[in-house]
Amino acid sequence: MGYRVRFVKPDEAYQCIKTEIDTAIDGCLEKGDLILRQQLRDFEKRLADYVGVKYAVGVNSGYHALHLSLLAAGVRPGDEVITVAHTFVATISAIVHCGATPVLIDVGADYNMNVDQLEAAITPKTRAIIPVHLNGRMSDMDLIMEIAGKHRLKVIEDACQSLGGTFRGKRAGSIGTTGCFSFYPFKALGCYGDGGAVTTNDPEIARAVTLLRFNGEDRETGEYHYHGYTALLDNVQAAILDVKLRHFFAWTEHRRMIAEKYHKGLKGVGDLRLPHYTDDRYADGFQNYVIRTKKRDELRNYLADNGVETLVHWFKPVWEHKALDLGVWNLPETVSICKEVISLPMSAETTSDEVDIVNEVIRDFFKR
Ligand SMILES: Cc1ncc(COP(=O)(O)O)c(C=O)c1O
Repeated sequence: MGYRVRFVKPDEAYQCIKTEIDTAIDGCLEKGDLILRQQLRDFEKRLADYVGVKYAVGVNSGYHALHLSLLAAGVRPGDEVITVAHTFVATISAIVHCGATPVLIDVGADYNMNVDQLEAAITPKTRAIIPVHLNGRMSDMDLIMEIAGKHRLKVIEDACQSLGGTFRGKRAGSIGTTGCFSFYPFKALGCYGDGGAVTTNDPEIARAVTLLRFNGEDRETGEYHYHGYTALLDNVQAAILDVKLRHFFAWTEHRRMIAEKYHKGLKGVGDLRLPHYTDDRYADGFQNYVIRTKKRDELRNYLADNGVETLVHWFKPVWEHKALDLGVWNLPETVSICKEVISLPMSAETTSDEVDIVNEVIRDFFKR
């Protein structure tokens, strides 16, 4: 079905910066710069500067950013790692693939870690905490860092959805032991395949991730220091990301403008709960614009019937996927969210007119 308002528009996104992207790709291909070349170093430097850290290490996905961060932070089989249940499964799989046990806690009304539950989840086996900054909004890093400091735990920020979000003026990925980013094509900063990065101020962590992403090899000496992974950010993707990152300030401002337009148009409509909160420690990046209603499925069908494409993140709690063998958890907010959320169209290419259409369809639905 052709939608009147698409969820994202990757073809239009390309057209907007086609000349710059084509030049960057040609530059790599013509020189044969495919693996570990200057384009990767340039992007890593630009990303580190943007996030506000000393090091950024390009890897091939957000998943590997998480997995290699956990390994570099010393997470080993038998350890426990606390994270939220309301996240993309990769956050949890990264813990499992270290041989560690995920300990799941609930989220609050802003979809991020309910920090009131954090301390009670800590045991002598806890090694790390993964706060997930969901939908472009950061977690309460004051409380998380305070509790982590008290219990000597590492903090791996899952910032895969939050490049551009800030907490007390600090960017996502600059506060914990590491920050983990995904450049999956539909992220606010996306490449044309898979990609990711780890950010950190710790030189030893940066070195460990740099070795782990390249099968454990130190390129200077040829020595293998770990049984590592093939998990490098390709040079061509890095060159594309380096172009896109230059536009990222403007794109983030556009997302904020779109979010504000949704806010104005939908405030007070039906039982809708909108993602706007009164706490000026946060500035959100709006990777996703997520609304909440008890009539989720009816509203989503109505939007589709009226030409508006939406997504749901996620239809059921992660522990209900029995094959993952995560046990059973009593996390009521996570359960409710899975029944109530819809993500509305949101991208740097979403137009004001498109938001007007979406708002009108939603208002019509609640008037009927
Ligand atoms: C919160 C979160 N964590 C981790 C990931 C994994 O990133 P990737 O798909 O690049 O492996 C994603 C990507 O969708 C995500 O949204």
